[in-house]
Amino acid sequence: MKIKMENKKETLTAVEEQKRQQQFIEKARIYVREKSEELGRPLYACTTTFGCQMNARDSEKLDGILEAVGYIKTDKEDEADFVIYNTCTVRENANQRVYGRLGYLGSMKKKKPHMMIALCGCMMQEAHVVEKLKKSYRFVDLIFGTHNIFKFPELLCYAMESDRMIIDVWKDTDQIVEDLPVDRKYKFKSGVNIMFGCNNFCSYCIVPYVRGRERSRNPKDIVREIEHLVADGVVEVMLLGQNVNSYGKNLEEPMTFAQLLKEIEKIEGLKRIRFMTSHPKDLSDELIEVMAESKKICPHLHLPLQSGSSRVLKEMNRRYTKESYLALVDRIREKLPDISLTTDIIVGFPGETEEDFLETMDVVGKVGYDSAFTFIYSKRSGTPAAAKEDQVPEEVVKDRFDRLLAQVQEIARERSSRFEGTVQEVLVESVNDQDASLVTGRMGNNLLVHFPGDASMIGTFKQIHLDVCKGFYYMGTPAE
Ligand code: SAH
Ligand code: SF4
Ligand code: F3S
Repeated sequence: MKIKMENKKETLTAVEEQKRQQQFIEKARIYVREKSEELGRPLYACTTTFGCQMNARDSEKLDGILEAVGYIKTDKEDEADFVIYNTCTVRENANQRVYGRLGYLGSMKKKKPHMMIALCGCMMQEAHVVEKLKKSYRFVDLIFGTHNIFKFPELLCYAMESDRMIIDVWKDTDQIVEDLPVDRKYKFKSGVNIMFGCNNFCSYCIVPYVRGRERSRNPKDIVREIEHLVADGVVEVMLLGQNVNSYGKNLEEPMTFAQLLKEIEKIEGLKRIRFMTSHPKDLSDELIEVMAESKKICPHLHLPLQSGSSRVLKEMNRRYTKESYLALVDRIREKLPDISLTTDIIVGFPGETEEDFLETMDVVGKVGYDSAFTFIYSKRSGTPAAAKEDQVPEEVVKDRFDRLLAQVQEIARERSSRFEGTVQEVLVESVNDQDASLVTGRMGNNLLVHFPGDASMIGTFKQIHLDVCKGFYYMGTPAE
């Protein structure tokens, strides 16, 4: 192990840091060029992303840097000279997938010793994970965390120069470094971080421990980034944060999320605004008002419920009740009658009784979600809920999970079909995987529709007649 700089506080300004990293990009370019000449072919890099949209956005930054230093992007791990996993640790199965795939990478590296393997993201912020990697996965070249992703060029150089495992994981940071290269997955839409970290400490959740305290980006920087994206062909943005509704509270000049949305709305050329995630406890009437008046904000809210039982919600430290959640939904629907509501639900939180679970089913029935992500509770070490003794037996959780999923799907199917026969504006996203004569477009409410078209339509808006609903998507025809 060459360097380990835990808890490092930065002294450089963001601009100085950005310049410094540019120099490391130049340096790494030389290494990539030399290696490529030695092999007589270009070098390939493969990035795999686990977890949420924030991780996906981080991976675009990793890809931007890998491309800037001269790697060619590939989806095929076995042809890659550099492999990086951007990991997630929100549930145990995400971790298991990483260990499983690492085993395979180890055997690949035996055949291709110059292959470099890097790990970053939320899992790396956990000390027991890094210990395990040091012990049982010695072939990994580089490990870093969520707080120093902007140092990737520098760490890449260290890893290239060393034949030992390089580990650099910080406990926290207050730095936000902008303007490093980014390689966007889509030309016409993009995620935009508006804040980092989380202060909510829901008792089951590891995110605050691995992503640090909540930090909002300066609104001017956000608007400037979106203006640049729009100039580069982006028409839709997804504003990202663990709890966008508390945006701006820690800024030098505090500002609400609703006020930020109003600023973003003014950006000419930007057509659609989305955001996630909205914590119900912080969703203001001001936001509902702004959404109702907006021409650009999509009629969709992702409003994680987690549980319908006020008792469980208290144990989860969610800071709302069943009643206040339902009242919030009423206020939203009153001003935004057509809105799509989606949610996240956890089944089997410690101590959850059948009665608690039936409260969740009751809320699902009353709200009528357009779709819902359902999760089996996963014990995360270090969180308060993990220390609870009354963990729910696996077979009970499985049974509840199946019942919930059946109800969620039945309602979603019914809700999804409510636009059948209408004409909707869609943004064309891709050529259909199964049938190349079709393209797939996304409506404002996040539903997908497949209709005849070709690749030239990607990134454009079309008026589509929704002929028939097929469960969770539509088949349509152009209305013009
Ligand atoms: N910040 C968002 C959620 C981020 S994590 C919010 O507060 O809504 C995404 C989802 O993962 C959560 O909404 C929750 O439903 C689920 N989740 C988080 N921790 C979990 C755990 N320990 N077990 C199971 N699901 C979990
Ligand atoms: Fe986790 Fe709660 Fe923060 Fe969401 S708000 S990231 S569930 S602690
Ligand atoms: Fe996973 Fe980290 Fe996102 S733990 S859900 S990738 S913030």
